[in-house]
Amino acid sequence: MSHALGVVFLCSGSKCIFADMSNLEFSKSELRQIRDHTPGCLRVVHFNNAGASLIPETVGKAVQDYLQHEIHFGGYETAEKYAAQIKNTYSQLATYLKCDTSEIALTDSATTAWQRAFLSVPFQAGDTILTTFTEYASNYIPFLQLKKRLGINIKPIPNDEFGQVDLKSLIELLDHTVKLISVTHVPTNGGLVNPVVEIGRIARERKIWYLLDACQSVGQMPIDVKQIGCDFLSATSRKFLRGPRGVGFLYASSESSYQLEPSILDLHSGHWESSLTYSIRDDARKYENWEFNLAGVVGLGHAVQYFLELGVDRVWHRIQYLSETLRSTLSSLDGVEVHDLGAVKCGIVSFTSPVEAADLKSKLSKKGFNVSVLHPEHTLFDMQDRELGSMIRASVHYFNTKDEINRLADQIKLIISGSGKTY
Ligand SMILES: Cc1ncc(COP(=O)(O)O)c(C=O)c1O
Repeated sequence: MSHALGVVFLCSGSKCIFADMSNLEFSKSELRQIRDHTPGCLRVVHFNNAGASLIPETVGKAVQDYLQHEIHFGGYETAEKYAAQIKNTYSQLATYLKCDTSEIALTDSATTAWQRAFLSVPFQAGDTILTTFTEYASNYIPFLQLKKRLGINIKPIPNDEFGQVDLKSLIELLDHTVKLISVTHVPTNGGLVNPVVEIGRIARERKIWYLLDACQSVGQMPIDVKQIGCDFLSATSRKFLRGPRGVGFLYASSESSYQLEPSILDLHSGHWESSLTYSIRDDARKYENWEFNLAGVVGLGHAVQYFLELGVDRVWHRIQYLSETLRSTLSSLDGVEVHDLGAVKCGIVSFTSPVEAADLKSKLSKKGFNVSVLHPEHTLFDMQDRELGSMIRASVHYFNTKDEINRLADQIKLIISGSGKTY
């Protein structure tokens, strides 16, 4: 995306259109308000939104109120009292993802949500999983486990010239053995956004199960699960949605995923009917367990509501603007190299410098800047392919400012020059 006087080119794949974006920008007073709603902004310069973002005050208060009620009235009684707020979390997520509330399941993490979906696909020996070269370790390890246990094939789809999934290669890899297309929307290690709608079209045409890991994309950009055409989408509360930790969620499409039986059932997802029989819920909540961190669930509902009220398109617009600013500012520093791939890029910025990543992170932390370290083994293929070691991930959110970006860059410059490292 490029900007000029509020007019931008919006690019998806090879197609670009002009759009007047002046109505998408946050005013200075709105930004001040947003930062006032975010107590963490007073303490740190937070560029670790892809790790866990700063929680808005209203979200923290909702969690605290819930826990206070539990302290005074008991856990089960509090759940009854807050039933409407718990329900609200499902509705807010459904509004954001553009699906029905019956297609949302809550879990304790994105990983659990992903595993519930993955393990419900009825794999047999010889089946093939098509996936990406930027797949997250927590997804790839279960692929390897299934290969060991069952003899399935795992085939990463080659990238195109932008580093994203190459659609032609995906089509070439399709054969009668392909049972699942499992794709990460935004990988953990960079700004890349995969062409998930185009992948969905192919999966639907061939009637192949399509599982989307949207852990790093939810909360950054508009997501329409029906347009994407995925059977499942997994994500978390704590990252760009700015909700509490310990909550994840799964979208499970009513049209397709209801044919599947979850690999794990309990008395919430199933019903014990007789000495030999049980039945299963007929909505997405069959992928849930009975027990929940309900304070976190209520907090997530407030976080999604806050996000929707700000405007999903406006959030996405600002994230793209800030991340492009961060990329160009970092690239102008001697010795710093930005490594993000993708035709469309998001709020995750990955870079290396002459100072080793863990050392740079720790020195930045002492000065009040939060970033994270990317480890090669978390996205092994991609990092090996590009011969990258550990990198720094600086991930922006709409509450960050240009001033914070400049201060981060100045601090990195100081640390590099103080290190005496040559480049
Ligand atoms: C792309 C991706 N998928 C999945 C996960 C796992 O999320 P969780 O830790 O909430 O299970 C992460 C976490 O960083 C991630 O970046």
